[in-house]
Amino acid sequence: MQRSVVAIALLFVVMLVSACGDNYIGTRVEPQSESSLKFPVELTDARIEAGKSVYVDNCAACHGPVNGPVVLGSATVHGDAGHTWHHPDRLLHQWILDKPPLATVMPAFRGDLTGEQVMQVLAYIKSHWLPEIQARQNEGSVQYEAQVVEFGAE
Ligand code: HEC
Repeated sequence: MQRSVVAIALLFVVMLVSACGDNYIGTRVEPQSESSLKFPVELTDARIEAGKSVYVDNCAACHGPVNGPVVLGSATVHGDAGHTWHHPDRLLHQWILDKPPLATVMPAFRGDLTGEQVMQVLAYIKSHWLPEIQARQNEGSVQYEAQVVEFGAE
């Protein structure tokens, strides 16, 4: 009787330690929980504000201000006049982390920016779009998410 109580207590301690361990590792690798990465990107004032400095520090040197003009000739305009809004949020997020397909100049930001910082920079870019463009791109992002649910990401 005494033994099984000790055994159960021991098991409990082991479970507790391993649960903490998982949490600890998770916290170290990715400070923002992945559950904050919900698409379409939700535009909040805090995100837009934080995204402004992410953009100025990491993107503007090539892309210029969101509505242009670009600084580097081959860089794209992210405002209404460009094509960025033709793509769903999940893809834009992935491209910023791992480079767009066929990109030769655009760097990958994985390791430099967290997933949430990319959400912030997208929120900042999106906040510059006209309301009707925001609505159309949002609709496309919602449809893309439905496909991800049906067929899986990528
Ligand atoms: C060194 C210059 C450079 C920097 C810095 C840079 N880009 Fe780019 N980006 C480019 C170029 C050039 C392209 C076109 C593809 C190519 O030739 O690599 C591009 C393409 C893109 C595209 C795909 C095309 C589009 O508009 O949909 C996105 C999205 C994008 N960049 C976002 C960003 C964001 C956000 C940042 C900052 C976090 C950033 N880029 C930083 C040069 C840059």
